[in-house]
Amino acid sequence: LKETYYDYVIIGGGTSGLVVANRLSENPAITVAVIESGGSVFNNRNVTNTTTFGLSLGTPIDWAYPGEPQEYALNGTLVYHAGKALGGTSTINGMTYMRPEDVQINAWESLGNTGWNWSSLWPYYKKSERFQTLSSQQKIDGASYNPSYHGFHGSVTVGWSTTLMGGDAHSILNATWQNMGMPYKKDINGGKLRGFTMWPFTLNNSVGGEGIRQDAARAYYYPFAAERPNLHVYLNTTANRLIWANDTTSPGNELTASGIEVMTLNGDIYTILASCEVIISAGSLRSPLLLEHSGVGNPAILKKYSIPVHIILPFVGENLQDQPNTLMGATFNHNTTGYPPYVTSATATDLFGTSTASIEASLRASIPAYAAAVAANSGNAFSVSALTTLFTIQADLIFTQNTPLAEILSVPVAGALEFVTPFWVLFPFARGSVHIQSTNTSSPPAINPNFFQFPFDVSAQAAIGRFVRRAFATAPLSNHVTAELLPGLETVPANASDETWGAWLKSVYGPNYHPVGTAAMMARELGGVVDPELRVYGTTNVRVVDASILPFQVCGHLTSTLYAVAERAAEIIKEKTCSS
Ligand code: FDA
Repeated sequence: LKETYYDYVIIGGGTSGLVVANRLSENPAITVAVIESGGSVFNNRNVTNTTTFGLSLGTPIDWAYPGEPQEYALNGTLVYHAGKALGGTSTINGMTYMRPEDVQINAWESLGNTGWNWSSLWPYYKKSERFQTLSSQQKIDGASYNPSYHGFHGSVTVGWSTTLMGGDAHSILNATWQNMGMPYKKDINGGKLRGFTMWPFTLNNSVGGEGIRQDAARAYYYPFAAERPNLHVYLNTTANRLIWANDTTSPGNELTASGIEVMTLNGDIYTILASCEVIISAGSLRSPLLLEHSGVGNPAILKKYSIPVHIILPFVGENLQDQPNTLMGATFNHNTTGYPPYVTSATATDLFGTSTASIEASLRASIPAYAAAVAANSGNAFSVSALTTLFTIQADLIFTQNTPLAEILSVPVAGALEFVTPFWVLFPFARGSVHIQSTNTSSPPAINPNFFQFPFDVSAQAAIGRFVRRAFATAPLSNHVTAELLPGLETVPANASDETWGAWLKSVYGPNYHPVGTAAMMARELGGVVDPELRVYGTTNVRVVDASILPFQVCGHLTSTLYAVAERAAEIIKEKTCSS
């Protein structure tokens, strides 16, 4: 190792970390190190392939973390996929590029994050994007876009597959969802999602016949690697913990990190120093662990593992939010080929119809009990009043601001006479946690999303199931869906109660793999871990930039927002000059 001293040290060369590394290293006078547990997957066909989702899952580039038994969902256990490679989870994900609802980002500002709202983030969505316009075939296949929503000069190529599903699949689904009252949406990426549309992908469709996945490394690292000697990536190297310059166990003093301790594949441990800042970008499931192993977190948890408490920050690792994903399916009498990116976003009113007002009233009446339950689960790290504030904002988003509550994919399975609909409640109230469960920094996190913790989460997911069933029975789709296979009327009869739906949902769901919130950006008294400049409370020079800082779950899919947040974060970081 020639160099162990850098201005900035970034832990995690993933989706967010590589954006920050790229932008900071634009200045040749600034040195940047990226520490990444995984290796390069530049030529890994499981990664580059754009036609089949999931080829990398369960391979060595997937952390495949074991999850905790789900107390509110039959005690089932889950596997949490996450990318272990340069490019992070963007190398294994579904490549969906779908931004959130505008008002969800505005809600961040109401949590004490001055300057974070849809209009301030909008330029960064565009800055990160290099949108690829449509071929005539893609237009015929139903893809469409609004040019004013997109950026054309950024790093992440976004476009449609060259093997989109053709034939009349699009027109059948569009007509069906319109008959269900869902408007056709020309472009889902403008901050309003309700309706039916086709989504674009993080891929580059001008490479080869089928295009190639545009993961964070292909977008933000490889094009610049050769020309930036000031940017150094350590592959197959894992950060264990931060090293404090003013090492003190007297909580209350602001701490400054002088660097980090890392470990190589063969177990060698050494130090990499940061003269300016340490940026943690290890993802929602790992960034909180780095803080905890460094003595930043809930004293009750740190003391259990005899870790000296440097900063009392009880919210580290709390506030975990993910969505339960369920799949309904049917036999189909229509042959299809190609990739089917058809999505419907539905609001509470779409789902609950005339019951919306009573369901809203019941939810709002339950907020104090929901807040008390989450506070108790967190060992009272969270206060009931803070959670009441957060849950009220969430209820307002769902019922007053009409943020979509459901995402439903319509998937005619190419080459098989089957039709499936993965769907998920976008905004569950369940709150879980991710924490260390050993002093060994290589031990996996204890991940507990508490799926289906609250009746509302079950009712909402059940309402989506009923909505999908109605779509199966609505023309013209009804002419092609021949029999419901999943759940099937024997398992969940027509007019089944939430309880019956719930029993089935809990037996078949999986995570949506959109974990957020575990180092949330919000006021410290509300449960924040980082301030609006993404600096960890109680530190002078440690920031977190990744999915863990999102205070709430968002509609759409995460990477579009993570690229925008990381672009903005890089500018915030650059504003501070370091004295070195
Ligand atoms: P990310 O996981 O990208 O980066 C963290 C990096 O840190 C990893 O490279 C990891 O190896 C490294 N690391 C961890 N601990 C470390 C340590 N101690 N030392 C050094 N390195 C360490 N989103 C979307 O927009 N569209 C989609 O279609 C999908 N689909 C999807 C499918 C599946 C299966 C998953 C698992 C996820 C998705 N997502 C998605 C979600 C999305 O891909 C995900 O939220 C982001 O990529 C996460 O980006 P981050 O920067 O937060 O972490």
